[in-house]
Amino acid sequence: MKEINIAILGFGTVGRGVYELLEKNASLIYQKTGFYPRIKKILVKDLSKKRNKNLPNNLLTTHIEEILEDDDIPIVCELIGGINPAKEFVLECLRKGKQVITANKAILAECGDEIWKEASKYRSYLGFEASVGGGIPIIKTIKEALIGNKIKSIVGIVNGTTNYILTKMLENQLSFKEALKEAQAKGYSEADPSLDIKGWDSAHKISILASLAFGIYIPFSKVYVEGIENIDLLDLKFAKDFGYMVKLLAFAQKEDRGKLEIRVHPTLIPENHVLASVRLNYNAFYITGDFVGDILLYGLGAGKEPTASAVISDIVSAMEYLSFKKEPFIKYPVVEENLEKFIKPIEEVEFKYYIRFSAVDKPGVLSKISGILGKYEISIASVVQIGRQKKKGSVPIVMLTHESKEKNLKKALKEIDQLEVVTALTKKIRILDL
Ligand code: NAP
Ligand code: HSE
Repeated sequence: MKEINIAILGFGTVGRGVYELLEKNASLIYQKTGFYPRIKKILVKDLSKKRNKNLPNNLLTTHIEEILEDDDIPIVCELIGGINPAKEFVLECLRKGKQVITANKAILAECGDEIWKEASKYRSYLGFEASVGGGIPIIKTIKEALIGNKIKSIVGIVNGTTNYILTKMLENQLSFKEALKEAQAKGYSEADPSLDIKGWDSAHKISILASLAFGIYIPFSKVYVEGIENIDLLDLKFAKDFGYMVKLLAFAQKEDRGKLEIRVHPTLIPENHVLASVRLNYNAFYITGDFVGDILLYGLGAGKEPTASAVISDIVSAMEYLSFKKEPFIKYPVVEENLEKFIKPIEEVEFKYYIRFSAVDKPGVLSKISGILGKYEISIASVVQIGRQKKKGSVPIVMLTHESKEKNLKKALKEIDQLEVVTALTKKIRILDL
């Protein structure tokens, strides 16, 4: 039997998932491929930590050298997360000629230029299927299955934690905090959950997808990002009344000869659109290519089992790569100086908006607000004002607008928020009529 040794760096949610999958299905992989993947070492931070697995003696180590210096370990899976020390471990493994698999979107979106360069230089296989979309094979779909297409756009729900929170808030009336706690307990969130909530994890993921789809490295720093930290249940409910669902969407689009739009922000989408039905820790990717047309990929975007499934798919690709010794064929994204000239700034993009003002309940308020909107050429499509309050207090006024430039809306809201009758910062959510 041809065994291939593997090392895992990190034995948290994903590391344990990979271990359990191989415990159960390594023979199945052997039947299908002729190669038997065997875990030889697992790197952890803390050896004394209680693990609910009966692991063979000597499997765990805290010394990366035991993996780096072992020529009998050709495949290493980095499942630690974060930039340091994960990035250095990945680079060192590549330089040692090992095939590397990572689930770490942060290192690819923030240091992909360095990592892809080393992978090319050392002719190593670098697999990162698990870095985006959990168990959904989105990376191989873009890199291989859609290679003949000019990709026009990718619209996705790419973060399980935030989608879980938004679903639970609306469907079960959980508070933001309660929903987050559940997502953490289920192993969906990042070690630092603010990466999920602030939209950064989604930005890491769309940076990777756009880089693959458009062939140039678009680092995280070039993605416009807003998270869901300011979304209230009230907004989810108002949106629903207007026939929309609020989702944290990641968006990348490149028109012919046009500039690239790349961003992450909460978005109102029509509730009858297929993406609106993506609940809990599910993710979905709606991709448009010039020949394939529209395609949709849907599945579990976070969690132990689906993510392990994606890591294993890369392990098998790495085994194939080792056995045929083929040269890397599909190129990694190229690094472009002056990236700014390719990217459309958010201020220049036109959106429809959902806007919620908090204002005192007295005559003339609406006309003051709409006067300022008019001054910046923002036209109102519909308005809802919640009825008079018995006690004096502020009331929500919700508007949907027609399309207008982001920079105009920003100026208008800045002016409106200074009105004496406005009692709290105005909330805006962009609308995408997919
Ligand atoms: P996790 O549960 O926090 O596990 C991290 C593991 O890394 C722990 O076992 C920890 O060791 C180990 N570790 C931390 N620092 C280390 C160091 N300096 N040296 C050696 N080991 C170290 O993380 P996770 O949820 O499995 O996520 C791992 C990666 O997969 C991240 O990049 C994440 O973004 C990505 N990912 C996660 C999911 C998901 O659903 N969770 C889905 C897709 C991708 P100890 O056990 O000793 O503390
Ligand atoms: N924290 C990530 C999420 C894990 O919630 O989607 C999967 O990448």
